[in-house]
This record gives sequence, structure tokens and C-alpha cells, in this order.
Amino acid sequence: MDFPTWMASIQQRTESALEAVLPAAELVPSRLHQAMRYSVLGGGKRVRPLLCHAAGAIFGADATLLDAPASSVELIHAYSLVHDDMPCMDDDDLRRGKPSCHKAYDDATALLVGDALQTLAFQGLATRLPGIAPARQLEMVQLLATASGSRGMAGGQAIDLASVGLQLNIGALELMHIHKTGALIRAAVLLGAHCGEAAPDALERVGHYANRIGLLFQVVDDILDAEASSEVLGKTAGKDAAQNKPTYVNILGVREAKTLAGELRADAHQALSTFGPAAIRLHELADFIVDRTF
Ligand code: IPE
Ligand code: IPE
Ligand code: MG
Ligand code: MG
Ligand code: MG
Repeated sequence: MDFPTWMASIQQRTESALEAVLPAAELVPSRLHQAMRYSVLGGGKRVRPLLCHAAGAIFGADATLLDAPASSVELIHAYSLVHDDMPCMDDDDLRRGKPSCHKAYDDATALLVGDALQTLAFQGLATRLPGIAPARQLEMVQLLATASGSRGMAGGQAIDLASVGLQLNIGALELMHIHKTGALIRAAVLLGAHCGEAAPDALERVGHYANRIGLLFQVVDDILDAEASSEVLGKTAGKDAAQNKPTYVNILGVREAKTLAGELRADAHQALSTFGPAAIRLHELADFIVDRTF
């Protein structure tokens, strides 16, 4: 199977898994459920589920088993986007080519959508996964919680907001990116690996890959914000400069940011070298993250 076909198949099964886990639109409170479905379904590249499935496949995990952790990470990600777009954060009207949640609904609904998506993610991950030892599953719940909270994504978002207008040094910028975006990407990879049988040293190598592409993902997001159009991105372009956010582009310049992206990609590939052909999808995803246009 070539990469685009594999990618489409995982995106499709992720869509079905998310559809199944989200409450029906008619269920009371229906406006909240509609807004949750609006924010999750029918959009997004599904990079985190793709990473979860690709990492699980290396260690022999069954795709059916990977659907729950893959959906859970995507739900946390979708919640982070809903909140990220709110007027009190990035104040963005466009997301995945549609009005962002608070625009299509209202601020209070967007706040609750985020809350409800986050708890739904943990409801899914805490539901008994057949074939996984309870202690391992508990570890997975902890892993996602840490990646989402103040020492992970939410913490990174706090650093982002506190850094507006500041000239961060590279170390501080890296710290921010590793938290706000890297943490969930890393969790996606490790949750996948935890669904299979990964020896500690293999887990460490796959963890190194995850760290590199987590940072890489946000470096490329910063480049796209500066270079791509809103139409192609499906979100407002040029937002970082307009809001005076420290990014790899305004600190290093586009050229150097691209050089760094190339180095991170090479590092990510290197971390996978001992896995052989089993890691093909993770290799392809590293390339996809760099070469994507949106
Ligand atoms: C955008 O994430 C926000 C970041 C964490 C950089 P994605 O580029 O994965 O957004 P979707 O899910 O494809 O819309
Ligand atoms: C967002 O970073 C990271 C999240 C945790 C959502 P950005 O603010 O750069 O994401 P976009 O560009 O709005 O998607
Ligand atoms: Mg933001
Ligand atoms: Mg934003
Ligand atoms: Mg951005």
C-alpha cells in the first residue's frame, strides 16, 4: 500500500471512531453536542492518529486496538484548537476552512466544547482495552494527562500567551514549542507503541523520534503561518506576525527555520534506523510533516 492510500485509510477509520465516540447531535444538550461534532468531524489532517497507528504497527498492535488512543489524542487536539481560537487566546475566526467554534456558536459554548472534548478523550482511554494489561492502560491514561496539562500542551499555551511581544531566545522558544505542540505529538506516538510489545530501548528510540517530530511540527506550522495563504491553510495566515508571537520564523528567519526543519527531520529518520521496514509509516510521516502545504 502506498503512503497516500494508507493515510486515507487511517483518516477514514479515525473519522468513524470519532463519529462513534461523540454523542449524537440530537442528544440533550443538543447545541453543545452539535458544537462538539462541528469541531471534531470532517476536517483536520489527523496527524496524531496517523502517528499513533504508525507507531503501534511497529510493535505489532492491532489497528482495532489503536482506534481508542488515536481518537483520544485527536479529541484533546481538537479541544486545544477550539480554545486556541477563542478571543481570549489567538482570536481566530477560521479553523479547518470553517468559522471557528466560538464564531459558529458562541464563546461559552466553545469553552464547554473544549471541556467536554477533553473529558470525552479520557472516558475513551479509560474504557477497558481488551488485550492491554490494566496497569499498562493506567500508564497510558497518565501519559495523555501529563501531555495535555500544565506540564504539556496547556502549559505550552500559557507560555505562548505570556510570550507575546517578547524576544525569546532559541532555548525558550524550543521549550514553548515542545510543550504546546510537541507534548501531544509525543503522546500520540507513545500511546501507539504502548498498544504493542515495545522493549524499553525500542521505546526510547521511538520516543526520541517523537520528540524531534513534535518540535518539527510546530517549526513547520510557524513557517506555513508566514508563507501560506488562509485559503490553503484553512486558518488565518500571517497571524503570528500580526499578534507579535515569538516563532521560529521571526527569531531565525524563514531560511534558517527551514534548515532547522531539515535537521530535525534527519534526526527523526536517524532515530528509526534500527527498526527497518516496520517503521516505514513513521518515516513517511516525518516527511509529510515537513512537506505538507497546510
Ligand atoms: C495545528 O495543528 C495546531 C498546532 C498544534 C500546530 P494541525 O496542523 O495538526 O491541525 P489540523 O488538525 O490538521 O487542523
Ligand atoms: C497552537 O499553536 C498549539 C495548540 C496547542 C493548539 P498555534 O496557535 O500556532 O496553532 P494555529 O496556528 O492556530 O493552528
Ligand atoms: Mg496559539
Ligand atoms: Mg492559533
Ligand atoms: Mg500556528
